[in-house]
Amino acid sequence: MERKEFLQKTCKACIGIAAGWMLTELAACSHTPIYKAEVKDHKAAIPLSMFASSDLLITSFRGLEYDVAIRKEKDNSYTALLLKCTHFDNPLTSTGTGYTCSLHGSMFDREGVVTQGPAEYNLKHYPTSVSATDVIIHFD
Ligand code: FES
Repeated sequence: MERKEFLQKTCKACIGIAAGWMLTELAACSHTPIYKAEVKDHKAAIPLSMFASSDLLITSFRGLEYDVAIRKEKDNSYTALLLKCTHFDNPLTSTGTGYTCSLHGSMFDREGVVTQGPAEYNLKHYPTSVSATDVIIHFD
């Protein structure tokens, strides 16, 4: 095989692999909305309307290194979990039914309780309250 032919074949294979990876990543992200919000005076307001189509909202806050998973519960209260692995601080991703760490495989359920180590501690919760229009996350 000549160099030119080799490069053409390997480039096509790389493009195919990259396209497949991108589609997989997009599909994995597609079911959990991501919202960007600001923290002001140790609080953040998330519009209640953001939970119209999904009970789970992954929120990215400026100045906060890790995302926060905000979940609407059946009693209309809200929970907020810091998506920071309690093993070695790796960011977590949502599985739909919980959260997983890609670094060493720890898993947490939807309440942030460890279901598989090596992590030994549950996820950090932030207190929440609800106003007429927003879910308020308290970062005190
Ligand atoms: S950092 Fe998450 S399992 Fe090790």
